[in-house]
Amino acid sequence: MRKIVIAGNWKMNKTVAESVKLAGELVAAAKGIRQVVVAIAPTYLALAKVAEVVQGSNVKLAAQDVHWENQGAFTGKVSADMLKEIGVDYVIIGHSEQRSYFGETDATVNKKVRKVLSLAMTPIICIGETLAERKEGRLESVLTTQVNGAYAGLSADEALSTVIAYEPVWAIGTGVTATDDEAQEAHAFVRSLLAKLYGDSVAQSISIQYGGSMKPENAAGLLAQKDIDGGLIGGAALKADSFLGIITPGEGLSK
Ligand code: 13P
Repeated sequence: MRKIVIAGNWKMNKTVAESVKLAGELVAAAKGIRQVVVAIAPTYLALAKVAEVVQGSNVKLAAQDVHWENQGAFTGKVSADMLKEIGVDYVIIGHSEQRSYFGETDATVNKKVRKVLSLAMTPIICIGETLAERKEGRLESVLTTQVNGAYAGLSADEALSTVIAYEPVWAIGTGVTATDDEAQEAHAFVRSLLAKLYGDSVAQSISIQYGGSMKPENAAGLLAQKDIDGGLIGGAALKADSFLGIITPGEGLSK
């Protein structure tokens, strides 16, 4: 059985006060949610305050990034210990915006994943192809490189404590969503890569989220796909009702 994990990536949106407000609304709205694991990723600045709001609720706390070193002269960065201390459960790693704007590579993704796992938090490892890569027929090679890079040197036990987010770059923030079939096909391929690395039983136990213009209107169709085990949501996670409209269709599904 795989967990259905639906996480809101708030990106660089919401002040601390706005974050606290939205987190409070979500805690109330998610009270009846039983099966889906719900997580929210505010900015670093709002994490500690939001941690207080979600404490004791069924909303988990996620960070949008992390640095792999423990401490030191790394201006602008936040360590995994700091995240752990305030109760972070999930850490988004390798988001396409990190990769394209801030120099994230498969090697830095791997270092961050190892650090997060060493502190018993769950990395959400983001992968996905650009439109040009898809058009050039490079979908599979891009995903293979990203998955092999992220999991380099990880044991099967460590792999079992990870989540993957497949986010086709062309679907992020564009309003264009991968069709159910396109998404399912990519997810099945990613699972086959995990099976090559760790065997089928491990691969069947790792949750693979879809991300990219997921919204209440398309969530049910995507979540019903065999290999889609949740979502990583940007724009539609910035309001409690639309985020809940994505979470609710996940209830009752078993994977
Ligand atoms: P959108 O849902 O806004 O397309 O963003 C997806 C995403 O990048 C989540 O990490």
